[in-house]
Amino acid sequence: MPAIKLDGNLLAKTIRAEIAEQVKTFIASGGKPPGLATVLVGDDPASHVYVRNKRKACEQAGMVSIHHALSANVTQKELLDVVASLNADPAVNGILVQLPLPKGIDEEAVIRAILPGKDVDAFHPENVGLLAAGHPRFLPCTPYGVRLLLSRNGIATAGKHVVILGRSNIVGKPLAMILMQKPTAAFPDAGDATVTVVHRGTRDLPSITRQADILIAAIGVPRFVTPEMVKPGAAVIDVGINSVDGKLVGDVHESVIDTAGAVSPVPGGVGPMTITMLLQNTLAAAKIYA
Ligand code: GUN
Repeated sequence: MPAIKLDGNLLAKTIRAEIAEQVKTFIASGGKPPGLATVLVGDDPASHVYVRNKRKACEQAGMVSIHHALSANVTQKELLDVVASLNADPAVNGILVQLPLPKGIDEEAVIRAILPGKDVDAFHPENVGLLAAGHPRFLPCTPYGVRLLLSRNGIATAGKHVVILGRSNIVGKPLAMILMQKPTAAFPDAGDATVTVVHRGTRDLPSITRQADILIAAIGVPRFVTPEMVKPGAAVIDVGINSVDGKLVGDVHESVIDTAGAVSPVPGGVGPMTITMLLQNTLAAAKIYA
């Protein structure tokens, strides 16, 4: 039997409608419309598409989008000045500087310049630390989207073996933090799973991925995960977005659908969830600091 499709478009639509309702209630009770500032540097076409989609989703949820488009030649000082002005602006609840930044700009310095309370990406070391310590302020958007794609499709994580392919700061590492920790009042979305993170340096990787009840691929290598690497019936989450001959493909080979029990498609799986969780974080930022 082919795998169940974990439909991120459908779930994102449902959660965005819930967020739009919460925004209405927040404004009706005297709150200002939540504001998300996006900062886009240079002319990377993919980044332009991502930012446009983020801004559109923001407005559709009843929030305000504030946009700064800067030239690829912007200096580090000019970029830091823009971040400082957004930190000081009371109409801005969330700040998102789209990555990657052009060569010559110190990405780490820019991330550290964002006020942690407005860091809706949760990339600032203070927010990374709060997550690692078990009382997160915000959950990073893609890992948060993966978490909800599992839980809202009835895929429990407690006691399961989760194998994560990839150890990036944006996906692999924070996802491991979310899924391994104990759920508490401060961290209800924690997964209570047994988590293994595998990467380029892992020996005999398929023998580990085959143990996964839930396998999550976030390495950016097209169609890397093949059926031999998947335990029959496992849930497979594909975080990859790769362009191959003009077509979007994930990190999971299409044929995995005949081995897995559930698979998230690319496109239409994790992607729409990432933007949805950005909206959730922006609303949370507005509520915390209202
Ligand atoms: N580039 C790729 N993914 C992301 C993301 O989640 N946030 C930001 N700011 N840039 C990205």
